[in-house]
Amino acid sequence: MVADFKPNSGSEASRPATNGRVPLANAGNAIEVDHIVKRYGDFTAVDDVSFNVKEEEIFGLLGPNGAGKSTLIRMMTTLIPITAGSARVAGHDVSKDPDGVRRTIGVIPQALTSDLDLTVEENLNIYAKLYDVPAKKRKATIDELLELVDLTRWRGAQTKTLSGGMRRRLEIARGLVHSPRIFFLDEPTTGLDPVSRVAVWEMLTNIKSHRQLTILITTHYMDEADRLCDRIAIVDHGKLVALNTPPALKASVPGSNVIEAQFENAPADWEKSLHELNGVTSVQHEGAGMYRVLTGDGSRTTTELVETAVHAGVTVKSLSVQNTSLDDVFVHYTGRQLRDELVKAHSFVMPPRPGMQP
Ligand SMILES: Nc1ncnc2c1ncn2[C@@H]1O[C@H](COP(=O)(O)OP(=O)(O)OP(=O)(O)O)[C@@H](O)[C@H]1O
Ligand SMILES: [Mg+2]
Repeated sequence: MVADFKPNSGSEASRPATNGRVPLANAGNAIEVDHIVKRYGDFTAVDDVSFNVKEEEIFGLLGPNGAGKSTLIRMMTTLIPITAGSARVAGHDVSKDPDGVRRTIGVIPQALTSDLDLTVEENLNIYAKLYDVPAKKRKATIDELLELVDLTRWRGAQTKTLSGGMRRRLEIARGLVHSPRIFFLDEPTTGLDPVSRVAVWEMLTNIKSHRQLTILITTHYMDEADRLCDRIAIVDHGKLVALNTPPALKASVPGSNVIEAQFENAPADWEKSLHELNGVTSVQHEGAGMYRVLTGDGSRTTTELVETAVHAGVTVKSLSVQNTSLDDVFVHYTGRQLRDELVKAHSFVMPPRPGMQP
C-alpha cells in the first residue's frame, strides 16, 4: 500500500510558492520524477519510481544500502542516463536539457570529494570560479557560507586537518557557492559520530531558514529523516514503497505504540498468545526471545502481556513501550527492519586526521 503518490496532493507539508523569486515551472514542483527506471544489464536498480518534490520542501529518500537512493540522485542530477521514464528538475528535462538542470542544482555526493591539500577557503574559491561566480561577489559569498556552516575560524586550515563533520560542512558550503535553487545531498551524515550528525542537521535547518532552497536528501537514519524532512519517500529494492509526511507515515501504521519485550521459557505458540492481547495489531519475533508488538493501546496491552506471562510461567527479561517510529513504518511497508539491512560497510571511511590546527 502506498500512502501519497499524487502530484501536489495537499499534504500538511505544503508551503507557499517562492517569495519574490520567479517560480519554477510545473505548479510549484521543483522536481518531477515520472516512472523512472535504471537498469544495469539484467539488474533493475530503480524500478518505475514516480514522485514530485515541491519547491522549498525538504524531501527525504529513505532506504537501506542498495535500495537505489544514489542511483535516483545520479539520474536526477544528470550524472547517469535514465533507462526509461523521465525526470524534470526546475522544469528542465534531465535527458533533453542536462545543462539547464546543472545550472540550477547543487550536489553533495556520497563520497567526500574536497581537495585535501587545499585550505577550506581555497576549496570554496575553486568551486566559485568553476561556477562563474563573479569575482566581485566571490569573497562575500564565501564569507557568508563559512558563517552559515560555522567554519569561519577554519577558513585557512588545510582540509586534511578537519574532522569528518567539518569536512561534510565544507562540502555543503561548496555545494552552495553558486546559489543553487535545488540542493541534492546523498547521505550527508553517514560515517559521522552522533554529535557531528546533529551539527549537520542544525546547519541544514539553518541554511533552509536563510535561503529559498529545495532540498532532496538521502539517508538511512530514521531519526534524521523524521526530524529534517517535510516528506519522506521510503525506497526498497529500487521501488518506492511509501511516501508522505513523517506523522502521516506513522499514522498509516496500525497501532500507536510499540512494545519491545524479551522473554525466557516462552512456549512455541507465544507469538499467537501475544497476538491475542487487547489492542495488538502485529507481532514480530526478532529472535533470541525478543518480540516487537504493535498496539493501539500501549498501557492495556502491557498490563495484559505481563499478566499472561506470569500465568504461563514465562519470564519477562526486558520490556519497553514507545510511540511508533519511522522504524515501525519501515517494517510495515517492507516486512524488514532497516537496521538489519545496514550490515554492509559504509561506502567511505574517514581519512586519517593528523591534527586540527587552523
Ligand atoms: N554501475 C553499476 N553497475 C551495476 N550495478 C550498480 C551500479 N551502480 C549501482 N548498482 C547497484 O544498484 C543498486 C542500487 O545502488 P545505489 O548505490 O543506488 O544504492 P543506495 O540506496 O544508494 O545504497 P547505499 O545506502 O549503500 O548508498 C545496488 O544493488 C548496486 O549494487
Ligand atoms: Mg548511496
